Amino acid sequence: MSNITYHDQSITLSQREEKNGHKSAVLWFTGLSASGKSVIAMACQEELFNRGYQVTVLDGDNVRHGLNAGLGFSEEDRNENLRRVSEAAKLFAESGMIVLTSFISPLRKNRDYAQSIITPLNFFKVFVKVSLETAEERDPKGLYKMARDGKIKDFTGIDAPYEEPLSADIVIENDTQSIQAGVDQIINFLKDHQII
Ligand code: ADX
Repeated sequence: MSNITYHDQSITLSQREEKNGHKSAVLWFTGLSASGKSVIAMACQEELFNRGYQVTVLDGDNVRHGLNAGLGFSEEDRNENLRRVSEAAKLFAESGMIVLTSFISPLRKNRDYAQSIITPLNFFKVFVKVSLETAEERDPKGLYKMARDGKIKDFTGIDAPYEEPLSADIVIENDTQSIQAGVDQIINFLKDHQII
């Protein structure tokens, strides 16, 4: 970019990690609406917070109220939504935090792009997997019904695509298992990979 100089941080990521006593990372949750991404991310955040880790959640519904207000659900708007939140996640991770992101991020290229922005920082893909039937049965916001009735267009899983990840680092089978089981999977993964 012309006439703009990039300034390196005066405190390095390693210094921050040493002070925090853990590594930084982005856990990129993906899955259908109502799959449980946000519920698991929030429960995981609580557990990490209570154990003294620096952690935050970036959530689609929340971010779309602020930073990304004005963006809709066309492929183009989703790309821009996810580009911005990838950059935001990177900033948080550069500050030493464990970042849990909760966005449908429906296309493989969306997730690959996020990974390309965030790498070389630690990036792990978490697939919260449920069948479309389960998501539609839960339908906590009544959005699937509205989509089926043609009142919302471009709804993921109904008239907009969701591409399942081929190479997730963590797959949470969330049709029947408890929220805590998903949280445990993530905590164990973070330990195994020496993030915490
Ligand atoms: S993403 O596709 O750009 O990653 P994001 O996670 O930010 O989506 O937002 C998804 C949330 O927006 C859903 O949980 C749902 O509450 C709401 N939403 C509203 N309209 C749609 C739609 N057409 N498709 C999917 N989600 C929608």
